[in-house]
Amino acid sequence: MNKLKIITKDGSPSIYLKDINEYYHSKFGAVSESKYVFIKNGLNFWKKNSPNKSSCNIFEMGFGTGLNAILTYEHSIENKLKINYQTIDSNPLAKNEIKFLNYSKFFNNMNAEIIFDKLHTIPWDETHLLDKNFNFLKINKKIQNFNFATKYDIVYYDAFGSRVQPELWKEDIIKPIIKSLNNYGVFVTYSSMGELRRTLVNLGMTVEKIDGPIGKREMIRATKI
Ligand SMILES: C[S@@+](CC[C@H](N)C(=O)[O-])C[C@H]1O[C@@H](n2cnc3c(N)ncnc32)[C@H](O)[C@@H]1O
Repeated sequence: MNKLKIITKDGSPSIYLKDINEYYHSKFGAVSESKYVFIKNGLNFWKKNSPNKSSCNIFEMGFGTGLNAILTYEHSIENKLKINYQTIDSNPLAKNEIKFLNYSKFFNNMNAEIIFDKLHTIPWDETHLLDKNFNFLKINKKIQNFNFATKYDIVYYDAFGSRVQPELWKEDIIKPIIKSLNNYGVFVTYSSMGELRRTLVNLGMTVEKIDGPIGKREMIRATKI
């Protein structure tokens, strides 16, 4: 598939799939979107509400550029929060596509270039301790074939949109993910789709439609209470 490197409106890089007209992040700002959707409305929200504040298990659907992963790593270091981060991707980016993605100027207090490189170059399907507070596992398979055996506190659901991959937004995929959530667990996504909202309600989640990131009116956050 034809992958084009783009610079989004906040100056951060991302990738555009020309053949299917789909972006890895919002064209209004890759870093701003990831920070707003997943860090602010996922991780910070969970920290505010969950009685367990000592460690957090996160599952990310779609490792992609690694942007959500490195932002979460930064959060873990700055807040001394122990995080076990698991991410899945069936079609990882190639080396030459990763090279262009220099996010280092968006991070002040750490050597982002080295961490970013590590996130991409360490082997798949093995757990790595990247910092005493940050355990990292990237799984190279389709989410359809993944067995949800771990209990998670937060799910960052960052699949391509339902226009291009409708199968990833259906109940048969979402159900095992929701089952794997701990109490106070949070499922967060940039999507605001009605079908997803109804699925999450049917699965017993408390669902909110909250303000979306720049360029998007709403997004979904669901909590297991
Ligand atoms: C929107 S991008 C993820 C962006 C990413 N979270 C980031 O921070 O850059 C969606 C990702 O899902 C992956 N993907 C697509 N279908 C998948 C599947 N069935 N199972 C696992 N990963 C899949 C793609 O390869 C792509 O990297």
